[in-house]
Amino acid sequence: MDPRILSRMNSWGVDFQTEMRKAKSLAEVYTLVNRIRRSDSRCGVPAAFFNPFLAWHQKQVGLAAGFSGNGRALVAGPGNCGDFQLECLAGRFDEVVLLDVDAEGPEIARQRLPEHLRGKVSVLVCDASAYVGRVVARAEEAIGRSSSGTDAAAVVRGILAAPPLESDLRPLPLESDSFSFVLSDDVLPNIYPLPIAWLDTKLKMKFGDDCNLSDGGQVPPIQLVAALVHLAEAHRILEPGRSLAVSASVAYVTVAVTPDNRERVVYCHEGPDGGLVLISAPRLGFDGERHVGLDLLVGMASGFSPVFFETYRLPLAEAGTDTIPGIGTTETFIAALHEFACLKKNG
Ligand SMILES: C[S@@+](CC[C@H](N)C(=O)[O-])C[C@H]1O[C@@H](n2cnc3c(N)ncnc32)[C@H](O)[C@@H]1O
Repeated sequence: MDPRILSRMNSWGVDFQTEMRKAKSLAEVYTLVNRIRRSDSRCGVPAAFFNPFLAWHQKQVGLAAGFSGNGRALVAGPGNCGDFQLECLAGRFDEVVLLDVDAEGPEIARQRLPEHLRGKVSVLVCDASAYVGRVVARAEEAIGRSSSGTDAAAVVRGILAAPPLESDLRPLPLESDSFSFVLSDDVLPNIYPLPIAWLDTKLKMKFGDDCNLSDGGQVPPIQLVAALVHLAEAHRILEPGRSLAVSASVAYVTVAVTPDNRERVVYCHEGPDGGLVLISAPRLGFDGERHVGLDLLVGMASGFSPVFFETYRLPLAEAGTDTIPGIGTTETFIAALHEFACLKKNG
């Protein structure tokens, strides 16, 4: 398993390799992670660092939602609904769909709402990437069929690296495909690490601990494809000119499609190796801190005449830390956004 993922999981005081082995399905693993996050919503991040960031994030979601009037809203990856204000969304919109692979977190958040808002919120359990779940199922079948660990790892790596099959790309199972606000809430950096860790565990359980999915540290490009499929789906279900807000805690970018159909890059922060280093997007400029891939973001944004709401800088010095262990790769995420923007521009 990617040591960065393990160190993050284990920093929550959970022996993740053991827990992963006990789980009957990948969905159970997501439920476990959301339970841990409910017991420590900051996931060990110092309060001085996390709390202002959270307040700021909630405010940005509110601003992005403000472009959308009312109508229907969809939140992909709501989890425990800790980083946005579900009550505000339920008050503003006629209907809010919480779409997550884990039902427990969103359902608890829904139950906590005042009764008059609860009926407006529904929970839909499905794969927001509309893709990864099918790839994982195919890889699990391949592991089940294989009699050699080396062959199985190679076949799974091949499955993860292959371009998506036409049959994999199905629309999200929504009752209606028309939303006036879509929030992709920290799903993108979470789309691939647990599935990869899950498949790695399956390999180890069948063929022993030496059997390994990673190949010289290379991450299969499933992250990029899954991110693109997810963003394309999010955009497909969005009513023209309404807001799509995308957030990601590793490479933090929030983009809103405004009523005039231009995109607003709200903010971005990112860090090499999953560390959190840069928090700011000052007027397409760059304030001299380390960064990865910001040029791509700027390239993407410039095609859409972005307007920044404001910049935000985490109180790193006060928190006594300059990195947060993270997961996911910033460059692939930014690249996905860039490609998404190109796809959109090309119709
Ligand atoms: C880090 S959490 C987001 C934080 C969350 N908004 C909160 O406040 O608790 C990521 C969420 O994305 C969900 N998730 C991960 N991969 C997903 C996928 N492929 N489809 C749908 N949800 C997914 C996880 O279950 C989790 O609830």
